[in-house]
Amino acid sequence: MTSPRYDRIGHGYASRRVEDPRLGERIRLALGDARTVVNVGAGAGSYEPEDRTVLAVEPSAVMAAQRPPGRPAIRATADQLPLHDRSVDAAMTVLSLHHWHPSQERGIRELCRVARDAVVIVTIDPQVSGEMWLMADYLHEVRDLDHRICPPVGRILDWLDRPAEVEVVPISRDTPDGTLMSFWAHPERVLDTAARAATSGFARQPDAVVERVVRDVAADLRSGAWDARHGRLRQLGEYDAGLRLIRASRGA
Ligand SMILES: C[S@@+](CC[C@H](N)C(=O)[O-])C[C@H]1O[C@@H](n2cnc3c(N)ncnc32)[C@H](O)[C@@H]1O
Repeated sequence: MTSPRYDRIGHGYASRRVEDPRLGERIRLALGDARTVVNVGAGAGSYEPEDRTVLAVEPSAVMAAQRPPGRPAIRATADQLPLHDRSVDAAMTVLSLHHWHPSQERGIRELCRVARDAVVIVTIDPQVSGEMWLMADYLHEVRDLDHRICPPVGRILDWLDRPAEVEVVPISRDTPDGTLMSFWAHPERVLDTAARAATSGFARQPDAVVERVVRDVAADLRSGAWDARHGRLRQLGEYDAGLRLIRASRGA
């Protein structure tokens, strides 16, 4: 395995990327009555149901080290899961699929191979996330990157070998999971080094791009230009920033 990206960008992840209980509940519902679950791209352990037997798969040592005591992870990648066919009830993956580029199709087929029934994928619809003010007005580099590495939902459905349903998952203003999508309500977070570092979107950009975006957002907040264009967002409790939950099941 080559050095995983999150060994570079994953330091401090667990403190800023705390599980959102609303998304956690949706995932638990989507897993149905599965007793054994593989979580691929498991990271620090967010969203893993505690009432089932979970096998965590995570390539980055830095991320695995942030897992709670007693919940280790197998070091492997999605495109080659070290599991037998149909060996778990369900497979899940949360905000990891875009990092599997260019092997996303292979990874999805692996989830289907090992899961007897439910395959639950939480991912980003790049068309929708690209319309959020941050990507549309300031950070085109991430919008363009997402278009390359986040498979459109229709393509994911084509890769799955069982019927699937797609849920829109709005992001709450107060979500504790500080993804780039959570910035929809908090332009001030762009000015916060730790908040930026907890998002792969910012962490993957060269310093010059990050400095430009920070400078432009700071200027627009000072002048009132941001509020003139997007201030209505300050009244909303939640917003569709592109998060999607796909639940595939043989019984769907
Ligand atoms: C944004 S984090 C999400 C972590 C966790 N699922 C969560 O929701 O907090 C993305 C994770 O995917 C992992 N990852 C990256 N490439 C991967 C691959 N090819 N196969 C499996 N996991 C991968 C990263 O190491 C990282 O832990």
